[in-house]
Amino acid sequence: MERKLLLLMLLLSCFSGAFAAPNDGSASTGSTDICMEFLGRDCDAEQRRLLQEYVGNIDIQSLSNKLQQDFAGAPRAFTALPKDHAGFVNWNKSVTDGIIRPLGTLNGKPEEENEGYFANMMVFNTKVPEIPNVLFPHGMHTYWLSCESCHPKPFKKKRGSNDFTMGDIIRGEFCGKCHGKVSFPPGTFKNCNRCHILRKEGKTPFWGDTPK
Ligand code: HEC
Ligand code: HEC
Ligand code: HEC
Repeated sequence: MERKLLLLMLLLSCFSGAFAAPNDGSASTGSTDICMEFLGRDCDAEQRRLLQEYVGNIDIQSLSNKLQQDFAGAPRAFTALPKDHAGFVNWNKSVTDGIIRPLGTLNGKPEEENEGYFANMMVFNTKVPEIPNVLFPHGMHTYWLSCESCHPKPFKKKRGSNDFTMGDIIRGEFCGKCHGKVSFPPGTFKNCNRCHILRKEGKTPFWGDTPK
């Protein structure tokens, strides 16, 4: 019975996909509603704003060529997954697109509560004027990771209580504990704007508007 339900849901999602969100590549031009594109359903104004700010700049089409070069030696399954500007697998988009659905635990035990994928966006204000501020998606991290991965080390559990620099990150501390190891690396200019996405008024980041 459970299996039938699953089949039905699969069929339904195929149909709703076909009618509501044509998957013909028009997505990246902005002609498809971003909520449909990433969540497969309608969403409220705040979620739409967050999505636009947070994942709206991912241009899947222009990445496909790059992929072939960058992923020549990568596991073949990766070819099916969306990539970021630098050609690395975009694991978040893989989840929000419904391509993968990672298990919470290996032993079937209930998963640690998480606060919701798009909840709790936290801002780090950079001290350099040309560098956009950082949007840290806390909820997205608690989807992937348990609290102990970050608290109490390397991050104290209090907003604004952690003092670190970009140099620390590139050296593998704080955010760099994972970014550059299990998640996209901070040391390539193509990836700066995956974290530094909150542009300060009138300032263009020195890596330009869109990564090449
Ligand atoms: C990927 C790392 C990471 C994970 C995993 C993580 N956190 Fe955090 N958390 C942070 C960072 C970074 C901050 C902000 C610190 C700052 O502003 O300096 C933070 C802040 C907090 C705060 C302070 C909020 C405030 O408004 O002061 C609380 C509470 C918190 N986290 C709880 C949790 C809980 C509970 C979990 C597990 C469900 C969790 N965190 C998982 C990185 C993480
Ligand atoms: C994994 C996320 C992430 C990536 C990727 C990233 N940064 Fe940062 N960056 C941060 C955080 C977090 C801060 C700290 C903000 C603060 O509290 O001052 C920061 C701070 C900075 C600062 C302010 C000065 C300083 O040292 O704190 C500069 C400049 C900077 N980053 C440049 C870059 C450049 C250039 C790139 C790409 C090569 C980049 N960053 C990639 C997260 C990131
Ligand atoms: C304990 C490991 C860990 C730490 C520490 C960590 N991250 Fe992450 N981060 C991840 C994982 C895992 C993902 C999801 C997989 C992926 O996108 O590669 C992720 C994804 C992200 C994304 C999503 C980007 C996108 O385009 O989808 C941003 C932004 C980000 N991290 C910023 C930060 C910043 C800023 C810090 C430090 C304040 C930080 N992370 C600390 C593991 C970590």
